[in-house]
Amino acid sequence: MVPSVDRMKSCSFLLSIAVIVAATVLFPDEVESAKILCFFPSPSKSHVLGPQRLLKNLANRGHEVTMVSEFPLTKPVKNYRDIYVQAENEFAAIMAEVMQGGNQSMITMIPTAIKASLEYTNKSLNSPQFQQLIREERFDLVILGFFMNDFIVGVGPLLKCPTILYYSAGLSELVNVVGNPREIASVPQAHLGRKSSMTFFDRLMNVVLNLMETLFHTYIQYQSRIYYRNNFPSEKGFPSYEEAKLNVSLLMYNSHFTQTSPRPLLPNAIEVGGLQIKPEPDPLPEEIQAWLDGAEEHGAIFLSFGSNLKSSTLQQEKLEAIIGTLGKLKQRVIWKWDTDRMPGKPANVLVGKWLPQDDILAHTNLKLFITHGGQGSVTEAMYHGVPIVGIPIMADQDTNAAQVVRDGWGEVVPFDELTEAKLTAAVQRVLSDGKYSERVKQIATLFRDRPHSALDLATYWVEYVVRHKGAKHLHYLGADLNFMQRSLIDVAAFVAVALYVIYKLSRFTLGKIKKVVCGRIRRENKLKFN
Ligand SMILES: *[C@@H]1O[C@H](CO)[C@@H](O)[C@H](O)[C@H]1NC(C)=O
Ligand SMILES: *[C@@H]1O[C@H](CO)[C@@H](O)[C@H](O)[C@H]1NC(C)=O
Repeated sequence: MVPSVDRMKSCSFLLSIAVIVAATVLFPDEVESAKILCFFPSPSKSHVLGPQRLLKNLANRGHEVTMVSEFPLTKPVKNYRDIYVQAENEFAAIMAEVMQGGNQSMITMIPTAIKASLEYTNKSLNSPQFQQLIREERFDLVILGFFMNDFIVGVGPLLKCPTILYYSAGLSELVNVVGNPREIASVPQAHLGRKSSMTFFDRLMNVVLNLMETLFHTYIQYQSRIYYRNNFPSEKGFPSYEEAKLNVSLLMYNSHFTQTSPRPLLPNAIEVGGLQIKPEPDPLPEEIQAWLDGAEEHGAIFLSFGSNLKSSTLQQEKLEAIIGTLGKLKQRVIWKWDTDRMPGKPANVLVGKWLPQDDILAHTNLKLFITHGGQGSVTEAMYHGVPIVGIPIMADQDTNAAQVVRDGWGEVVPFDELTEAKLTAAVQRVLSDGKYSERVKQIATLFRDRPHSALDLATYWVEYVVRHKGAKHLHYLGADLNFMQRSLIDVAAFVAVALYVIYKLSRFTLGKIKKVVCGRIRRENKLKFN
């Protein structure tokens, strides 16, 4: 039986009604067009992808958006204005050093990285383009790219508009300005990994890890304060650094509870894990499409060290290990390579400078992703059901890769142990055993199953904050309390002192009563016996 044209028509009619109803439920009383500024001082293109997608959607819904970053859109979009600001970037040198397997340890690298991050934000903030913008225009909301540049919270008071902070990875103390409860006993810190229960030793370890995080954060605060004072002096009417932080309306971060552990979350801590991922891939560039389509028989592999670590700066022996491994495979490979030519490129390898990673991972012939294990990359691989071989190099990459191994959808080869033998073994294991790809597809199903997509959720909350002029009612009272107050140590101390005083008083009173009573009895007895 062929469905009648009428049936199909009424079907599509019902469908459009359903879409309209869904849209009204998701986005009640639409805000009028707002002027929204996003200031994203980051030299990492991958960090900017999520906000870009959010802003495009906001522009599409009629808002007037302005993005200040180093990464303008390649295709202009209506209502979306890019302001290009490139600050001198001290990260490139650090990254190149890391790729050389440099003798600097992570501990000595941390202060350098913090300094580079603060400097980058300071330069973007003081750039003529940004200064002109804030002199000439007013905005209804500002979205700020947040990480290791805490003094950026001064931009809200500068523009006299509500502030949303966006962070491109998971929630931690480093970005927790809204005062989300930490729950050290039950929420494993990222380095502890996901747990099925918190044993005594897990909790002990968690205390140590959280303490280290606090120290790290204290150091960032200390450095950040200097920049805050210079850029937002109180003599010019700016609120204090602490006040500015507490005045942030909302924190949005790129993670989802299926990737970490369930935890208590405030209404203004919004998980938008996978915000950068498009549900439907864009068409691939012709050459890449053909290359992947032609990999029907054995499948294809994608290799990328992300947007910060450049493959061309790899130490020679490590580069040879990777080339040696890939050159012997039957699979076709796409490698994100940052110069025009790769010396010794094997025939089965295609190189490109900036590749549409999300769209490549969505191709059905893609069988494996060899990655540095950045949060964005791991999430995209998971979303598209592609198992990984991680070569973690720095920052949160080893934690992310370790979690993938525990979850059973990938293998890891630590960067300093990278040899052809080890890489080949890991690659072959993942390619030949179906369990990896089966497992990642299960996890992807969990990750995708949500009441609203990350994009709809992010859009909703941006408009919510605009609609309610900063939504002050979301402010969590716990954010204003210090450690002693939040843990009720002051109350416990008060109760202890009160109990002690009551105890002392009653003892004193009882003693007095006893003396009086006993004295009388003794006197009476004396009288009797005399
Ligand atoms: C806090 O933010 C609101 C806008 O959301 C602003 O009106 C207010 O002046 C800010 N307060 C401080 C102390 O910056
Ligand atoms: C930040 O930038 C301003 C303007 O370029 C500069 O005067 C200042 O020294 C920089 N550093 C700090 C810590 O503010």
